[in-house]
Amino acid sequence: MIKEMINNGLERIGYKVIRLRKYLLDMGDHQLLRLGTRKGFDYEEAVKFLLRLDVGLETPMREASIPEKSLHYLERFFSSYFPSDKPIIALHIGNFVGISLVWAADYFKRIHQDSLVVSIDPNLTHRGISDPLKAVVKLTNYYHLQKNILFLVGYSLEKTVGLDTGEGMAFENTLENLTLLSKGRYDVAFVDGHHQAAYVSKELGHLFHLLKEGGIVVMDDVDEFWQARTGLKDVYDKVDEEKFVKEQTDGRVGILRKR
Ligand SMILES: C[S@@+](CC[C@H](N)C(=O)[O-])C[C@H]1O[C@@H](n2cnc3c(N)ncnc32)[C@H](O)[C@@H]1O
Repeated sequence: MIKEMINNGLERIGYKVIRLRKYLLDMGDHQLLRLGTRKGFDYEEAVKFLLRLDVGLETPMREASIPEKSLHYLERFFSSYFPSDKPIIALHIGNFVGISLVWAADYFKRIHQDSLVVSIDPNLTHRGISDPLKAVVKLTNYYHLQKNILFLVGYSLEKTVGLDTGEGMAFENTLENLTLLSKGRYDVAFVDGHHQAAYVSKELGHLFHLLKEGGIVVMDDVDEFWQARTGLKDVYDKVDEEKFVKEQTDGRVGILRKR
């Protein structure tokens, strides 16, 4: 009360009063941006971080990323699935600004510090955000995950032409080439790149060879919205049951297990 009266008085005679608490908080944020954080991944903090980088608008950023509640749903599934004493080797198709990628790397690093996520994305302009890889790398650094992510700038299969505008810098046939190097090595794969049903079915064909026995596939967007546009939900619903078992879905992400 007294502080408020003094501040008001100073302002009236021309002083600019800096709200100290807010100032310190802002300073703290800036320092965090420079130094990174020791805390684990936090969804809202990651969005705030990306907005501060001025990467793009909040709505498309949130709309095109796997929502927080689906990531928690996956954590609940994984917590009873993966042993806590072995590194997890994961494949992640489709980064955009890095929310699900960085969440996965952070989550698996908490299971074992040597866990690795191999990321595949051609770094297309998507939802108005160009060169999203720049933001992904900054988010990776912010959460100290530089040792836990391997970036492959390429299409999972052949180059795709669709809503996105390709800059022509990306490689192709990444899954096929990875099969030459690392067949049967992956514990889990996330599929959230190109959304055409035929393309995703083909990705699943390659992932079958890349996954270990019992390996998990997480498909994003197996919902009515994408079913109406590309038939993506059918890829999950009608998966080849000789290869994959349908585990569970929350209506957004669908989980498959390799037989
Ligand atoms: C929906 S966003 C991914 C969102 C991200 N998984 C998340 O939740 O934070 C789709 C991404 O897939 C990428 N993409 C599009 N076609 C692809 C392809 N053929 N192979 C790999 N990635 C692709 C786009 O560049 C875009 O970054």
